[in-house]
Amino acid sequence: MRALLLAAAIAAAPLVQASTAVAQTAQATADLTAPAQTFGRVSYDARSLMINGKRLVIWSSEMHPFRLPSPELWRDVLQKMKASGFNTVAFYFDWGYHSPKQGVYDFTGIRDLDRLLKMSEEEGLYVIVRPGPYANAELTRGGFPGWLVNQRAPSRTDSPDYLAAADEWMTQINAIIARHQINGDGKGNQGSVILYQIENELALTTPAHRRYMDHLYAKARADGINVPIFHNDQGRNGYWAPETSPVDKVVHGPVDLYAFDGYPGGTCTVGGQTTRGAAAPDWGFYGPGGAKGGASASPSTPGFMAEIGGGWFDYWGSNGGYECNARQRGERFQRVFYGVNLANGITLQSIYVGFGGTSWGWLAAPVVFTSYDYGAAISEARELRVKAEEMKQLAGLLESVPDLAGMIPAGPVEISSPNIQVYHNRSLETDARFLLVTHKPSNGQTNDDFTVTANLPDGRYVVPMTLNGFDAKWLVAGVDLAGQRLVYSTSEVQAVLPSARQPVALMYGRKDEPGQTVLRFASAPNVTVLDGQVRSAFEPATGDLKLDYAHQGLARVKISGGGRPDLLLLIGEEKEAARFWRQGDVLVRGPALLRHARIERGQLLLTGDTREATPLELWSSQPVRSVRWNGATVATRTTASGGLEARSALPGPADFALPALTNWRAAPGSPEAKPDFDDRDWQTIDNRAYASNTLRPDGQPNMLMDAYGFHEGDVWYRGRFEGGPNAETIELFYGAGGAGMLQLFMDGELVGQDELPTGMPRPITTGMARFTLPDAARTPGPHVLSVMVRNNGHNWNLDANDFHKEARGLVSASVGPRSGPGFSVPVAWKIQGRQGGEDFTDTVRGVANNGGLFGERNGWHLPQFDDTRWSAATVGQPLQPGVTWYRTNFDLNVPQGQDASIALAFGDIDKPRSDTAYRVLIFVNGWHMGQFIANVGPQRVFTLPEGILNPRGHNSIALAVSTDGAPGNVLEDVRLIIQRNVRGGVQTTTEGSHR
Ligand code: GAL
Repeated sequence: MRALLLAAAIAAAPLVQASTAVAQTAQATADLTAPAQTFGRVSYDARSLMINGKRLVIWSSEMHPFRLPSPELWRDVLQKMKASGFNTVAFYFDWGYHSPKQGVYDFTGIRDLDRLLKMSEEEGLYVIVRPGPYANAELTRGGFPGWLVNQRAPSRTDSPDYLAAADEWMTQINAIIARHQINGDGKGNQGSVILYQIENELALTTPAHRRYMDHLYAKARADGINVPIFHNDQGRNGYWAPETSPVDKVVHGPVDLYAFDGYPGGTCTVGGQTTRGAAAPDWGFYGPGGAKGGASASPSTPGFMAEIGGGWFDYWGSNGGYECNARQRGERFQRVFYGVNLANGITLQSIYVGFGGTSWGWLAAPVVFTSYDYGAAISEARELRVKAEEMKQLAGLLESVPDLAGMIPAGPVEISSPNIQVYHNRSLETDARFLLVTHKPSNGQTNDDFTVTANLPDGRYVVPMTLNGFDAKWLVAGVDLAGQRLVYSTSEVQAVLPSARQPVALMYGRKDEPGQTVLRFASAPNVTVLDGQVRSAFEPATGDLKLDYAHQGLARVKISGGGRPDLLLLIGEEKEAARFWRQGDVLVRGPALLRHARIERGQLLLTGDTREATPLELWSSQPVRSVRWNGATVATRTTASGGLEARSALPGPADFALPALTNWRAAPGSPEAKPDFDDRDWQTIDNRAYASNTLRPDGQPNMLMDAYGFHEGDVWYRGRFEGGPNAETIELFYGAGGAGMLQLFMDGELVGQDELPTGMPRPITTGMARFTLPDAARTPGPHVLSVMVRNNGHNWNLDANDFHKEARGLVSASVGPRSGPGFSVPVAWKIQGRQGGEDFTDTVRGVANNGGLFGERNGWHLPQFDDTRWSAATVGQPLQPGVTWYRTNFDLNVPQGQDASIALAFGDIDKPRSDTAYRVLIFVNGWHMGQFIANVGPQRVFTLPEGILNPRGHNSIALAVSTDGAPGNVLEDVRLIIQRNVRGGVQTTTEGSHR
């Protein structure tokens, strides 16, 4: 009944606005009559999710465990997310990463998802799981396993073979997830998983797809998944929204919650230029109605973006978009776009991605190269980018003002400038207000001083404001904060630390901009300005204390009396406030990162990172007798503003030197090209079933690498033919993914190399290589053709058209005369790929690590390989056509207690491409940490995470360098570089590493 009345009240809100008022008209499309749906501890209604009955904005950040093959560092990323204020982490799981062969699953070591989910819970994060079966995520096959490429049944449908395969995966992964649900699994296990996604961006909605979705839902439930289930719609199309009966209001499938994704805000173009792109879309209350783009996609469930772009991926051959993306979706982007989402009632937002990591080995789909940095808030080198500060500040607001969960439009306000719009929302429970102030349109760049006149909970106010350039401000009014009444403030709230002795509130604004904060009291309070310039005036008629100031440095104001508890008000300029961290009972100022804060018997135990010697100041809501920082005692003194400060600075990291990479040894790596190479144990190409959707010429055998159990990386073919006058040309039709390539040899000599054009941003993934055969081919007698195809990943299957089944390896090979009656020379082909195929033996490194180079098959990439019989070599020495392996060793000496990100760099790192043409597969301690393509680019720096690298000891490196042997196509300078060096980091153990 209450909900009905409220709905009527909203509907009656005046839709016509004064010309000075906000442009948008709130479409109160949330169905406030929809009853709450409850799944154990998790429930929701049209406005927000609730956990244990408490409304909460789900503020989530995504990472991919498979893109950081170092489980101990998962904790580092999780801690950085938590410290940045996220309350939730989202994970895709990659089916193919765990399943090398049908029926075989591996969840050990770097694939230990039980460990990941436990860690997430330990770090205080709720978890959204996204196990697919289809993920996308710029993964090879979109996360499908290699063996699924050989299945003819259409994937992502209800075809029985596909469902049987998907069920195999779901059974395995659901068993792990079920144990970590917030509702428990009924067997005594419990964790922090709150939401479960089936499928991803399935944009086909035929009955067969509906039956598939129903099947996945039922399968998850049968496997014990007891949290709400949702799908992620590719844009707000309304696909796979819960179908609620108007009669009983009960959901009848295929999901419980509706979610969608969006990547607004412009892109980084090929030239690496940032654009300010479009304005922030209104994907909720303030948007136009209708199924497409409207707010009515699912009125009975809360606004939920399972992905909101926090960056973008980058392509082979680009000029390097990650720094550009970090900037584009950088300063202010978060404020405008995530703020507008929040104002639109999108109370569940998950940033895609919060940490991108590395598509190491052969994980990458053809649309990306090795680095999946994404321009994310946490860089590939695990550095918190500047944009993380804005996220932390938004998170601080969400934590300080829980009323923000479940707000609805509150009606227009008056604005004195046509350049400005204000989204004005209110809490149904407390009438607290949220005012998002931004430009009209939100990508406007003008500098404006204006007033906002509004009927706020404590009266009608004319609020003076400033908005300079691309920006938005998240303002609250009529809010109870730590025993105080905030009438309104033009500064933003970042943290509130309740305390019996002295609550602390931290507010901030843009440097030098004016600010005004109004608090209400029963009688005049005492105002003491401890630091900075703050003017105060008390208005006895209303009880309002008005503080006026400019945001400069950090002002400190002590307010006492007036019928309320004491308050320390900290008012900082934006950057100054960003130096604060809130963790539980403490507010800390100074360090580069505060990981944990725990109070044990009066002792405050802090852990975190410093980038340099850093002062430390803190406030605590519990009594603190002594302080430790990363285990060491910190001598402190109390401050005038009631906190504690360290008597001396926290130490920063020590410098250390990296070794030069010298003493290289090398060996030729394409013996398969030699005519007398022993290929007796290779598989013979035959006419086995062909599952690819790539058309091949009639009458050809099945040459595809996948058909022979080789799904990743390089594959070799050898073909024997009888020389004769018709052996003039060869046509090789092949599939090789983004920037893939092929090399053809005859009788041991390179005939030629073919590289697929990048065609960015949609890579060209198949090609036709035509070569004239050498004269020797016309000489009677046996000849051998050797072909190496480098498969740079299978396509994703984004459009559910089985694009992942596009051919890889050779599709057809035709030898014949230059002109005349077709290709007539018979060739008997054999194929070889990864050692063991689907039954490979390196189960530690797993499915993504190796392809089928001779050196890989013989362990040349492994640290223990004995290369003493190889010849001494230098980078830059001339190379034979084909593959040349380089190896060397080095020792690292990162000081104890420091976390350094170290990378391998090739040539001039300021240039996206080299003038020479060669490719390198990079193996560090046996781990394939990336591919460098000198003439394609743009990536020249390869992050090597600790755990792969031994930071305090011995390491090996092996480079498989391939060229066409042309003069100058040689390996450039190779060196280690330090990307980041801090004192702190997570605890790592040697036995925990997997070298
Ligand atoms: C989304 C998709 C993700 C990822 C992203 C781009 O549309 O759901 O899996 O591909 O785009 O990075």
